[in-house]
Amino acid sequence: MICNADEGDSGTFADRMLMEGDPFTLIEGMIICALAVGATQGYVYTRSEYPNACKIFTQAIENAYKAGYLGDNICGSRKSFHLELRMGAGAYICGEETSLMESLEGKRGLVRNKPPLPAIEGLFGKPTVINNVISLASVPIILAKGADYYRDFGQGRSLGTLPIQLAGNIQRPGLFELAFGVTVRELLYDFGGGSRTGRPLKAVQIGGPLGAYLPEQEWDTDLDYEHLASRGAMLGHGGMVAFDDQTDMSQMARFAMEFCEIESCGKCTPCRIGSVRGVEVIDRLTSSEARPKRLTMHCWWIYATPWSLARCAPWVE
Ligand SMILES: Cc1cc2nc3c(=O)[nH]c(=O)nc-3n(C[C@H](O)[C@H](O)[C@H](O)COP(=O)(O)O)c2cc1C
Repeated sequence: MICNADEGDSGTFADRMLMEGDPFTLIEGMIICALAVGATQGYVYTRSEYPNACKIFTQAIENAYKAGYLGDNICGSRKSFHLELRMGAGAYICGEETSLMESLEGKRGLVRNKPPLPAIEGLFGKPTVINNVISLASVPIILAKGADYYRDFGQGRSLGTLPIQLAGNIQRPGLFELAFGVTVRELLYDFGGGSRTGRPLKAVQIGGPLGAYLPEQEWDTDLDYEHLASRGAMLGHGGMVAFDDQTDMSQMARFAMEFCEIESCGKCTPCRIGSVRGVEVIDRLTSSEARPKRLTMHCWWIYATPWSLARCAPWVE
């Protein structure tokens, strides 16, 4: 089994903070998962940009071995589970589960075709469970307090809690674990305390560079999977980056699209070509020759994800 701790989205740091601040919850979640599926070998895959988390987590693994919670015959149960921490070189694509497995196998991080799904044929060709740090770290409390307790948080189909990472131009940035359903506005002002510069906030990026930038009129949206999807946005890993009214959003859109261009592994055409075309479209939109069309586009593109912008390239021309 694998724990995905690659955390490549900009503005996200929940996995890192959990590994640094509460590593045993993750180890416990992984042991429970391993016992449930009969896995005897586990890997936590993280990035070299997280030296502190690596140091603390390595020590925690050692302690768990010494205490008999990892290794052969765990606590006299005749069950075994071995755990290793592996470090990637910080390629965004290695957060995608099949690229991650390629990287763990010592190869270049390129996506694999699916099927076969990792649960059928995953790491080293064996059936593999792969989940994120937060998913696995949520397991111990669900087992300890019961599914009803956990289900009691949240709303609709988004149940439980969400570790929201608030960053950017914000008075009180940080990691807030809240039930799904808090609004974007509540988060920015009640929890975040508004902008750090004291200027009005203008937009918030949710779900990393592949997510969306939401303008102020969308901030009464509840933070859960369904409501964000109905706005054409997505929650991703729960990262939120705030921008004040001085920010040039066209530059932010360009940054997000350029990020996709740089980090594309190049295997699939829509991503490899689309992200390059996307950057070109944004450059055309923001150039002085495109000014009349740019004004028409302005209101529309603030909602656009980098991918939808790439898809609209012919229309812009
Ligand atoms: C381009 C790309 C990058 C991804 N990066 C990450 C990542 O950094 N961390 C992560 O947990 N999942 C990432 N994912 C999602 C994983 O492929 C996979 O769905 C996830 O590890 C499953 O965990 P969960 O079901 O517990 O959320 C990424 C997916 C894609 C397509």
